[in-house]
Amino acid sequence: MRKPFIAGNWKMNNTVEESLKFAATLAVELKATGQIDVAIAPPFTALYSLGVAFTDTEFDLAAQNIFWEDSGAYTAEISGVFLKEVGCKYAIVGHSERRQYFGETDETVNKRAHAALKHDLIPILCVGETLEHREAGKTWNVIESQLEGGLKGIDLSSTTDFVIAYEPVWAIGTGKTASTAQAEEVHGLIRNYLNEASGKEIADRTRILYGGSVKPSNSRELLVQPNIDGALVGGAALDVVQFADIIRNAH
Ligand code: 13P
Repeated sequence: MRKPFIAGNWKMNNTVEESLKFAATLAVELKATGQIDVAIAPPFTALYSLGVAFTDTEFDLAAQNIFWEDSGAYTAEISGVFLKEVGCKYAIVGHSERRQYFGETDETVNKRAHAALKHDLIPILCVGETLEHREAGKTWNVIESQLEGGLKGIDLSSTTDFVIAYEPVWAIGTGKTASTAQAEEVHGLIRNYLNEASGKEIADRTRILYGGSVKPSNSRELLVQPNIDGALVGGAALDVVQFADIIRNAH
């Protein structure tokens, strides 16, 4: 019922030239994505070229962030107008690296999510606990408040699509993956939250991705869990062979 979705978040990696090489190899590796949505979030500098390379393919473009104003004196921010112009379909908001290093709060994340929707971009709202939170037994409190803050004022019934990514901070780039049981537990709680907040239909249709050291060797097991609808892949998405394998494992 929910179409699997594999998104690669390249973070601050890949020049335009490297991005184009990746796109060319991906097209050879993976002739068709089948019943799976696939997107790449490259650095902003490569969005345009990658968008051109993805024309007439089944691969979609995602932005790593979005600002809430459309234009103006906001040095280094990126507007939904620009993202739309270069062909983005999705915008990641609230990635833990943004929260950790760049002072993003639930409030700014929420403003960014609203901006994405305003520009007809599908938000990928990231939530996740740190190791300290987990060890203190506060995993769900943290995620619930990130959901509450991030989704404030957003009527999920008026959007055709909205994606949530559960990315435990302690599993990002560390090689430590949440066990399938740990991941599925949180995904199930997120689904319940959506059910209570917005009703069963929305809970049933909202895709919840897992992110944190996803690789070909663990992706199949994660992706067969009933509440894990896809993956937000960092490191392994920089390697075209691994990324294609993760997509194949989602079938
Ligand atoms: P890694 O797959 O490198 O752990 O990164 C996950 C992530 O942060 C994706 O947004």
